[in-house]
Amino acid sequence: MSGVNEIRSTFLDYFARNGHEVVASSPLVPRNDPTLMFTNAGMVQFKNVFTGLEARPYQRATTAQKSVRAGGKHNDLDNVGYTARHLTFFEMLGNFSFGDYFKERAIELAWTLITKEFGLKKDNLLVTVYHTDDEAAEYWKKIAGLSDDKIIRIATSDNFWAMGDTGPCGPCSEIFIDRGDHIWGGPPGSPEEDGDRFLEFWNLVFMQFEQTEPGVQVPLPRPSIDTGMGLERMASILQGVESVFETDLFRHLIDAAASQIGKAPTAETVASYRVIADHLRSSCFLITDGVLPSNEGRGYVLRRIMRRAMRHAQLLGAGDPLMHKLVPALVREMGQAYPELVRGEAMIAETLKLEESRFRKTLARGLGLLEDATRDLSAGAMLDGETAFKLYDTYGFPLDLTQDALRQRSISVDIAGFTDAMERQKAEARASWAGSGEAATETVWFSVRDKVGATEFLGYETEAAEGVVTALVKDGAVIDAAGEGDPVLVVVNQTPFYGESGGQVGDTGMMKGEGFAIEITDTQKKGDGLFVHVGKVVSGSVKLGAPVEMKVDHARRARIRANHSATHLIHEALREILGTHVAQKGSLVAPERLRFDFSHTKPISTEEMDRIETMANEIVLQNAPVTTRLMAVDDAIAEGAMALFGEKYGDEVRVVRMGTALDGDRAGKAYSVELCGGTHVSATGDIGIIRLVSEGAVASGVRRIEALTGDGARRHLDEQDKRLKAAAAALKVAPADVVARLEVVLDERKKLERELSDARKKLALGGGAAASDAQQSENVAGIGFIGRVVAGVSPKDLKPLADEGKKSLGSGVVVFVGTAEDGKASVVVGVTDDLKDRVSAVDLVRHASAAIGGQGGGGRPDMAQAGGPDGAKAADAIAAVKAALAG
Ligand code: ALA
Repeated sequence: MSGVNEIRSTFLDYFARNGHEVVASSPLVPRNDPTLMFTNAGMVQFKNVFTGLEARPYQRATTAQKSVRAGGKHNDLDNVGYTARHLTFFEMLGNFSFGDYFKERAIELAWTLITKEFGLKKDNLLVTVYHTDDEAAEYWKKIAGLSDDKIIRIATSDNFWAMGDTGPCGPCSEIFIDRGDHIWGGPPGSPEEDGDRFLEFWNLVFMQFEQTEPGVQVPLPRPSIDTGMGLERMASILQGVESVFETDLFRHLIDAAASQIGKAPTAETVASYRVIADHLRSSCFLITDGVLPSNEGRGYVLRRIMRRAMRHAQLLGAGDPLMHKLVPALVREMGQAYPELVRGEAMIAETLKLEESRFRKTLARGLGLLEDATRDLSAGAMLDGETAFKLYDTYGFPLDLTQDALRQRSISVDIAGFTDAMERQKAEARASWAGSGEAATETVWFSVRDKVGATEFLGYETEAAEGVVTALVKDGAVIDAAGEGDPVLVVVNQTPFYGESGGQVGDTGMMKGEGFAIEITDTQKKGDGLFVHVGKVVSGSVKLGAPVEMKVDHARRARIRANHSATHLIHEALREILGTHVAQKGSLVAPERLRFDFSHTKPISTEEMDRIETMANEIVLQNAPVTTRLMAVDDAIAEGAMALFGEKYGDEVRVVRMGTALDGDRAGKAYSVELCGGTHVSATGDIGIIRLVSEGAVASGVRRIEALTGDGARRHLDEQDKRLKAAAAALKVAPADVVARLEVVLDERKKLERELSDARKKLALGGGAAASDAQQSENVAGIGFIGRVVAGVSPKDLKPLADEGKKSLGSGVVVFVGTAEDGKASVVVGVTDDLKDRVSAVDLVRHASAAIGGQGGGGRPDMAQAGGPDGAKAADAIAAVKAALAG
């Protein structure tokens, strides 16, 4: 029982047998703590359980926790490779009591495990206790039978453990093993304690306080236990090797690196191999937990770790990028315990390769510059800050990489000079920025950005997180506090809220802190990487520096995700069906709908719309995972990722792939591949359904499609269905027969209209009831005359009426005024041929037109037509013609 995997399970099984719940490791990026860069101990996920904020269904737990100690309070980066025991990534085995057992039982459980299960010899073991902790010293004497000289009292913070500047803390007791006098070093507290002879492998923390702010400790509701055993250290003890790097797991990683490089480690090069093996682990685990290399925050710590390893790879003579080739070895060693490594393997390898390829472009030149600048320096000298800054700024050398490169020659770096150079550059940037004509109200964001740095976006991984308020802005000015009812713009060091960009709207939700709540109605990106939460204080008041819990409106974000992913599918379907000239011209991704504008010159036919919708929905039904990779922008475009013309991309971009193309020359490959910083569904099936609802023109050569997804699409279909059913009910047929029935009804209507028109004509000519009106032919100034108002006869039917009238008169003038339902009137005047030289229909119709408010009219002497708005004056029109004839 000495392999790393066996030690891990022995530990967990032992505590499970002793009534502890086995809890899975939490991610390396803490979800519940804004103050912590990385999960650096097993207790991090239980922080709120210790302080009483959170309740769990168990009072004892045990874990194997992924931990990173690089950046932040616990930082071991500088030591890695040069000592036998420091690692940036390690697994911490722990047992926890939340107000259940305390010191005595914790010591008893620990002692039994190490002496009985792990078989360590009592004579080689010694412990430390905090100098005032008589109680712990007594228990060690009683339970373990250790003599006083093996219970060492330590007065320093080494024996008072704290998670960070705030959080649970308490005195602790550390267990050491003496590995023999063939190794240099002295017991804890002695001047030689930094040597490797006495190795600390387990820390028992007696959690008694919560540090609410630096220097202020309040007692915890119930004293608790938190312990941490370094798995790798325990493995080195049980495997009888001096260094963690000689344990089975690390040997395999170092062998993999050596075989890639083609050289076995030597005394000179072994430190480089160790750095590579350790940094490989921390990089890969950080990447699987969502951290990507960048120039800010966590991403920068990752970049520092990666680049440090990459310099060592170069030092060892690796000709090509090395790190990504070691990923399979790591997955072999640790994939079983951490399946996320298996899932993320391709993504990790790609991220490592990209970073190493990029860094290699400047690494050799940077090292040359460093060599030139330090050639004349001897041990104990200092490299000037300007050069260190140039290496940082121009060649991408993190400061600690430069320090590491000079470490073996005992040359240090002028850190104050480095910081000065950095400040100077920032000041210059500010001066040139202020002159660039941005609106004055926006200038506030530049100084905020300068002061608080870019916001870390956590929203790809989570919709809830804690943060610390780093800036408050109201009416364009920075403020220290905002009270109930105040509209306020809030900047937090990290956030799960997506800031509006790339067409996707900003997130909304709630921000809560002690005694206050802020409703967030929008999130915008400002300056260079600031996320600004637009909100209103709904209760209490918020102060700068306040910790906040942030929660994105989940249902809304889920709809936005579905709409964003659907936009990609529609985009690709448009290109497949309409052609590759289709290019995105704009988009809106909102919770209730999506809008996509693209280049295309003609309307899209109903049949094309159908095919686009069908194709996009086929990919939805594949329920294929949506994957995101970080890539160099050129590589991504070379691989066919769709990018927006004119859009500014950084050197590295997120590439979102979804679905599998079914036919064509891309069959089997990703269906949609786009550069995109938005948030997406995890599998296409989460979109539910895509429904195109409209198509139209927005500008010349640009069309717009609007679409709905998921529940929105379902409700839309539901409404359509209800309308169809209502129509069917009204028509008294089954929904399937609505169209056939409507066609019959419309035909009938046409026929009836024809019949009605005929009947009206007949009526107008004097048949039927109309004959009793005083509308028979009359004689006006010796000319035969018929004048009639005919309701409901259309202008085109008036002419045949006039013809009929002329025929029945034989000689004379006819006037028909048709009135329509909308109140307008039209008039036709006919003059028989024998009279047309004496009276002109064109003249007569003008009189009629004037009477109904018209503009004249036109035609020939035998037949003329006119119209006017005033149908109520129809009779006057006839009178006007009569008067003109009588003239
Ligand atoms: N939290 C304690 C440590 O990290 C156990 O050492």
